[in-house]
Amino acid sequence: MPFRIAQISDTHLSRTKPFFVSNFNAIAEALRASKPDLVINTGDLTLNGAEEADELAFARELHQGLGLRFRAIPGNHDLGDNIEIENIHQHPIDAERRARYVSEFGEDFWRVDIPGWRLIGCNAQAFGSDLSGPQEDFIATAAAKANGRAVALFIHKPLCDQDPGEAVVGGRFLNPGPRAKLLTALGNCRPAVIACGHVHQYRSTDIGGQRHVWAPSTAFIIPDVHQPRYGTKRVGYVEHSLFEDGRHDRRLVEIPAAPTLNIVDFPDAYGPR
Ligand SMILES: [Fe+2]
Ligand SMILES: [Fe+2]
Repeated sequence: MPFRIAQISDTHLSRTKPFFVSNFNAIAEALRASKPDLVINTGDLTLNGAEEADELAFARELHQGLGLRFRAIPGNHDLGDNIEIENIHQHPIDAERRARYVSEFGEDFWRVDIPGWRLIGCNAQAFGSDLSGPQEDFIATAAAKANGRAVALFIHKPLCDQDPGEAVVGGRFLNPGPRAKLLTALGNCRPAVIACGHVHQYRSTDIGGQRHVWAPSTAFIIPDVHQPRYGTKRVGYVEHSLFEDGRHDRRLVEIPAAPTLNIVDFPDAYGPR
């Protein structure tokens, strides 16, 4: 039997702006029925936890309510974005915001060993700040001592679109500087799976022998007029099956009770588009 991971992402939860809570609850019910071995949320747990500490507490309460083993990593909406990105809507990550996230969800970098695999979670936004030293040391050790296990890396932002050598600087993918820090920390380790969220699209691509899996949002999609189409714009989650011999399968799971909402229909979430 493979180890099954339900990767949820971009849940964008808020107690005072609960636009996407019903979708989360519908997917939570499906997860409780499916009973994956582990649930991983790849970030943007909150609508705006970077500014509203209660949203982090609310998201933690809902995740604990799953009644399933879960781990999380932060997204830009949970503790601010990379310092290098000029984002007029979002404060950059800082130590205080990071500490608020950690107080609710535990360390923002971690590893979990399962048969045949080592799972490594990390904080994508920290790589673009002066806060990433401890996590780089942690990843270097975890990667170097995987001892023959296949590695699956979980990170909020995609490593790249098509090529890890891309030079684009922006908000959608890991930027060249942060990406270089991550790849340096990984050293000779080449993760078999790199799983992310952030783009609110499902995509599964082989890039140079590595499987890049983008989880969709459980909450909403961003329409083509505001965001290119890279993959599938649907709401749902990804089920990963990790086999002890290193094989990996993944599939998009859609839940009828969690409709594909469109962010333009929720101007009170992030303002009109
Ligand atoms: Fe998001
Ligand atoms: Fe994000």
